Amino acid sequence: MDIFTEINPVRAFLKGKRRQNFSVGLVPTMGALHQGHLELIKASMMENDLTVCSIYINPTQFNNLSDLEKYPRTLESDKQLLAAAGCDVIFAPTNTEMYIKQSDLHFDFGHLDKILEGEFRPGHFSGVALVVSKLFNIVQPNKAYFGQKDFQQFKIISKLVEELLLDMVISSVPIVREPSGLAMSSRNQRLSDADRAKATLFYQSLLMAKSLLQKGNPLEFVKTKVREKCGVVQGIKLEYIELVDIENLKPSHFVPSKTILLIAGFVGEVRLIDNLLLE
Ligand code: PAJ
Repeated sequence: MDIFTEINPVRAFLKGKRRQNFSVGLVPTMGALHQGHLELIKASMMENDLTVCSIYINPTQFNNLSDLEKYPRTLESDKQLLAAAGCDVIFAPTNTEMYIKQSDLHFDFGHLDKILEGEFRPGHFSGVALVVSKLFNIVQPNKAYFGQKDFQQFKIISKLVEELLLDMVISSVPIVREPSGLAMSSRNQRLSDADRAKATLFYQSLLMAKSLLQKGNPLEFVKTKVREKCGVVQGIKLEYIELVDIENLKPSHFVPSKTILLIAGFVGEVRLIDNLLLE
C-alpha cells in the first residue's frame, strides 16, 4: 500500500498508473474508519484496478468548532484497516496542502443544500463540495464511492459531477449498521456505552415511522409520534424527521420506492444522522 501526504507525488503516481490503463476508484473519508467505510473500499476494489482512500478531516465543512476538535483521529489504525482490506493507496494530506489560503469559493446547490442537514449546518455542504472538488481534481478517479448514510451529501456530489460535466461515475453504497441497528459512524466512537444504546432510538424511530406510514397514517401524525418517542429519553434531542422525494429532496407524501425518511439529532453532545429508503 502506498501512502501519500502531498499532492504532487500522488498526482505523479496516479498519472503513471493511468498511462498503464489502470482504472482508479476513489473513496473520500475523514478517517476513524469502520465497516461502513470498508464496504466502500470493497466496492471500489471490485470495480477498479486501483483504489485510493483519502483521509482528511476537512475544516471547511464543520460549522461547529468543538465538533471539529473532538472528531476522532485514528490514522495509525486506519492505515492497518486499509492495508488488511487490500486498499492500494492512502492520500492523507495536511491542511496546508489542501488549503493554500482561506478559500472564498462558495457553492450553492439551490434547494438541495437549504434543507435537512443544510438547514441545521449552514455552510456544511459548501465545504464538502469544495474539498470533494479538490479531491476529484487531484485523483481524477473513474469512479468515486459515497455512502447512503449521508444521502443528502450523495445527492449534492451527484449534482456537482453532473453540472460540472466531470468525466466520472458516482456510486452509492448501502448503510452498514451495528447488530443493534445503529448506523455505523465515526462519531459513534465518542458515545459512552449508555449513549450508544440510546442512539439506536433514531433507527427505531425510522422503523416506527415507516410502519405507521405504510399503515396509511398521515405524515404529521407520524412525525408527532417520533417526536414523542424521542422526547421521553433523557439526553436525546431530535432535530428533524422528514420524508422527502429521493430524486429532488422536496417534501413528499408517502410514495413507496420514491421517498426516503431522514432523521438527525443529538445523543448528549454527539450529533448523529440516519435514513431509511421506503421500499
Ligand atoms: P466520512 O463521514 O468519513 O464518510 C466517508 C464516506 O463513508 C461517506 O460517503 C459516508 O456516507 C460513508 N459512510 C459513513 N458511514 C457509513 C455507513 N454506516 N454505511 C455506509 N457508508 C458509510 O462523508 C464524509 O466523510 C466527508 O463529508 C467527505 C465526503 C470525506 C468530505 O470531507
